[in-house]
Amino acid sequence: MSEQRFAAARTNRRPAVTLRIRPGKIIREGKRGEQGRLICFLRKEYSEGGNNKNFPCSRIPFSRDGCPASVLLIKLLLHRCPFERTMSPMPTVSLALGDHSYDAHVSNGSLDSVGFFSRRARLSGKAALITDTNVYPQYGERVKRSLEDADYVVSVHVVDAGEKSKSLDTVSRVVEEMIRAGHDRTSFVVALGGGVVGDLAGFVASVYYRGIPYVQIPTSVMAQVDSSVGGKTAVDVPSGKNLIGSFHQPRFVVADPITLLSLPERVLREGMAEMVKHAAIRRPKMLVTLRQLADELPIGFSLSSIERLPSLIAENIEIKARIVEEDERELADVRAFLNFGHTLGHGIEASVPYGELLHGEVVSLGIRAALFLSHKHVGLPARDEAEVLNTLSSLQLPLQLPEKVDPASALQHVKADKKFRGGKIRFVLLKKLGEPVVSEEVTSDDLAEALAHLGTTPRLRKS
Ligand SMILES: NC(=O)c1ccc[n+]([C@@H]2O[C@H](COP(=O)([O-])OP(=O)(O)OC[C@H]3O[C@@H](n4cnc5c(N)ncnc54)[C@H](O)[C@@H]3O)[C@@H](O)[C@H]2O)c1
Ligand SMILES: [Zn+2]
Repeated sequence: MSEQRFAAARTNRRPAVTLRIRPGKIIREGKRGEQGRLICFLRKEYSEGGNNKNFPCSRIPFSRDGCPASVLLIKLLLHRCPFERTMSPMPTVSLALGDHSYDAHVSNGSLDSVGFFSRRARLSGKAALITDTNVYPQYGERVKRSLEDADYVVSVHVVDAGEKSKSLDTVSRVVEEMIRAGHDRTSFVVALGGGVVGDLAGFVASVYYRGIPYVQIPTSVMAQVDSSVGGKTAVDVPSGKNLIGSFHQPRFVVADPITLLSLPERVLREGMAEMVKHAAIRRPKMLVTLRQLADELPIGFSLSSIERLPSLIAENIEIKARIVEEDERELADVRAFLNFGHTLGHGIEASVPYGELLHGEVVSLGIRAALFLSHKHVGLPARDEAEVLNTLSSLQLPLQLPEKVDPASALQHVKADKKFRGGKIRFVLLKKLGEPVVSEEVTSDDLAEALAHLGTTPRLRKS
């Protein structure tokens, strides 16, 4: 299980108090616990004045009496911890999609509210909790307990972590398991995990008994800010990714940003590339916040940043939500804006063996290429270009083509794209930050030039 390290509290003399913590434990504390569970962490390491000491959580007596002084200090910090405060009000983003309208609730600690929201959404019958081998050990029991506390009968279906599980084989295995567990058309699916689980479980829900409801509980950045919202479900086939799927909107989304703290750092960083994309096309001010978070990443998020995560995630969901509302089935230009940085990114992704570069990493490269072409074709100011590049760079996302990528092969893959017709491709460019346009003017030569540009060292400047 990966561990996150972050500054949990700071005094004037940094780093005076640092907690190495791992999320996911609930500690009930007498009356306090009755009012609202205090979300705490497994404390791995506590350091004061440079002296590191280890306190495996299980050995910390977390009762009101008999605590050693150091534990009292940790308790004090936790009492000041913001998670209780952020439980309410819970940022909620509503998606107005007619009969398929739903809400996305974002809050630290909201994993414990899945049962509550399921009842509120009038979901009846049994719940089929679909999750993966990485996520289940960390959060599966909590979500199951929340559903059982709300009087649901729950069956759990764990698939292997990773893209390989987005397959028809896994669909039929999960469907068989659900039938054996007694699910019928009154049941609903709970998708707990990253984008892989969300896409797979959404697809299972869309075909089980010709379609049953499902809810999305995304646990990766990618899933919280992107894939859990919009209703696209899919599985892969040998000929390509996402070639079988459906539009099936969830009944609600519950995103608990605390779950992001257990992501492997590389996965956390790559997911943030999608937030940079959102910021570039719709909310330039968010770039500042992302750079602040990036600065903290080497030691981990500070408490105040953790407190701000829900509104940041909600802001991202809102950007996607407004675009989905305008163009639910991807029939107009507007949903294409979400492809900013993706056209060349996909070409690069397809040119290396699957998994060598993560999706957000190729999106970062694709964004740099798109900025270059935006400057050339629609006059994107150099200052705007620099600001986005600085943000990607501070997140340590790649801006230069790695040696293993052959630009000619990447270009071939882009040209094979069905959107490429008559030597031109529909390409999302930025006129300025926050103002995307779909251009028909980008040629194959432009793409080759942009890929060559990715071979050069980016010139980063102060924005
Ligand atoms: N439906 C859509 O609109 C849409 C949009 C974008 C991407 N996608 C799909 O999403 C998938 C990628 O999503 P992803 O990046 O979340 O990949 P993922 O689901 O594979 O998750 C990445 C890794 O992180 C692990 N993980 C997830 N949450 C964790 C947590 N809280 N703590 C520790 N580990 C955790 C997973 O087990 C996995 O190993 C792709 O299949 C892509 O096609 C779909
Ligand atoms: Zn993407």
